[in-house]
Amino acid sequence: MTGELSPIDKAKFVAAKRAAEMVEDGMRVGLGTGSTAAWLVRHLGDRVRDEGLRIKGVRTSARTAQLAKQVGIDVISLNEAGTLNITIDGADEFDGKLNLIKGGGGALLREKIVAAASEEVVIIADAAKEVGTLGAFPLPVEVVPFGWTTTQMLIEELLVSADVMGRRITLRMNNGKPFVTDEGNHILDLHLSRIGNARQLSMALNQMPGVVENGLFVDLCDKVIIGYSDGRVETRDINEGTVSEDLIDFAETENLFSDI
Ligand code: 5RP
Repeated sequence: MTGELSPIDKAKFVAAKRAAEMVEDGMRVGLGTGSTAAWLVRHLGDRVRDEGLRIKGVRTSARTAQLAKQVGIDVISLNEAGTLNITIDGADEFDGKLNLIKGGGGALLREKIVAAASEEVVIIADAAKEVGTLGAFPLPVEVVPFGWTTTQMLIEELLVSADVMGRRITLRMNNGKPFVTDEGNHILDLHLSRIGNARQLSMALNQMPGVVENGLFVDLCDKVIIGYSDGRVETRDINEGTVSEDLIDFAETENLFSDI
């Protein structure tokens, strides 16, 4: 199966596999959204099936919930879980301090709530997601549909004095209609090119009426696991200041997902 994967999918696959190995029996696990997080869910489903791993998964999107149930993970709500032992999710960008841009898949609101409820947040990514400064990826901002054009104007005004390079804002669309998040909101994508002060911008955006949440995850991530297409994985721990390397053997994972 892995032989058919593109290099980028192999990188996501191994990062997700390494992260799945960190999950222990009895844990309440936040399950992220996106293509990398989908690999994680499949790896965890594999451990549930083969090792009898017992976990409770909390979804960050309807998509993730569907896949998790499909692979045999017991899915509960965040209200039922209360707090989580670990959350494993993807990201659109991460920097040297492990600050992130998330929300490319439109699930940033639930993803941030779930991350904030977790003792440990682990981000899984391919190496292309690492940046010196956040902002090349358009920053998603979730806004309520009521008066979203006014909210956009207010954000445009805010950006005039913000430490950013670009200021263009687009409404995310889906099949010719405004994209609707799982919480019934819209997404404005802020094309900023470079974000000088992520914490300041995040706080300013969240003070604005109409803004529900933004895709800057500042001081939320504990570890990043970077996958490479040759099977190498690098784990960076921001709290311990450590970096470790590992090699995932694709041969051991042959036919792993033959049933998917
Ligand atoms: C969804 C997200 C995703 O984690 C992010 O978009 C990365 O996705 P992928 O793993 O497909 O590259 O934030 O809202």
